Amino acid sequence: MRRVVAVVGRKGGAGKTTTALNLSGALTERGYDVTMVDLDPQSSLTRLVNKGSVPAVLELGPQAENRAARGAAAAASWLAAQISDEGVYIIDTPPQLGAILDAAVAVADRVILPTRLAQQDLDSLLDTLDHCRQRVLIVPNAVSRYKVHQTALQSLRAAFNGQTWAKEIPESVTILEACNAGLPVVMYKRRGAPATAYRTLAQEVLPA
Ligand SMILES: Nc1ncnc2c1ncn2[C@@H]1O[C@H](COP(=O)(O)OP(=O)(O)O)[C@@H](O)[C@H]1O
Ligand SMILES: [Mg+2]
Repeated sequence: MRRVVAVVGRKGGAGKTTTALNLSGALTERGYDVTMVDLDPQSSLTRLVNKGSVPAVLELGPQAENRAARGAAAAASWLAAQISDEGVYIIDTPPQLGAILDAAVAVADRVILPTRLAQQDLDSLLDTLDHCRQRVLIVPNAVSRYKVHQTALQSLRAAFNGQTWAKEIPESVTILEACNAGLPVVMYKRRGAPATAYRTLAQEVLPA
């Protein structure tokens, strides 16, 4: 079995790289053979995780940038050849619309779109959704219990009625700490709301 999940969104800071790392950790914990694929030319995921980490990261961003210069179709067939083995591939993408995003979406079985809940995040959601042929799983990220977040979550859900929504990922200092340690939360602090949230996301992305 080969499953490809692309984590996308044109907005920087939304949580794509963090989600890619933590989703990969939660799927590894479930016994899947996971490879993280870093398509960001800035190599942010590669730099975030420890060398020799499990799951491993495949740094393809600089090459992806070259291939993307020849168009999304060329980049997509190159990417498909890089990830042709069995297993689960979680692709982190750069925070922009363009050929790299389009190539990742073209090879993906599943697309997930993490978003924060500020007003300006809404426009970028629409732009990104326009680039996806498949149904997208929107992941509300860094959600607090404050009323401003809970209200925004409700109105986003209403505005994107008909989209699929994942259960939200909490705003959590543990997630930051785990990132600083170069580890997925499920390996950094096994118990607690953040680890549970990523396990739930993993279940939504790949139901057992
Ligand atoms: N749920 C969360 N709680 C707390 N901090 C978070 C959360 N998700 C992401 N962050 C932090 O937000 C910052 C941006 O996240 P990142 O994953 O790099 O976004 P992107 O890849 O979309 O640019 C990072 O410092 C990350 O640690
Ligand atoms: Mg990133």
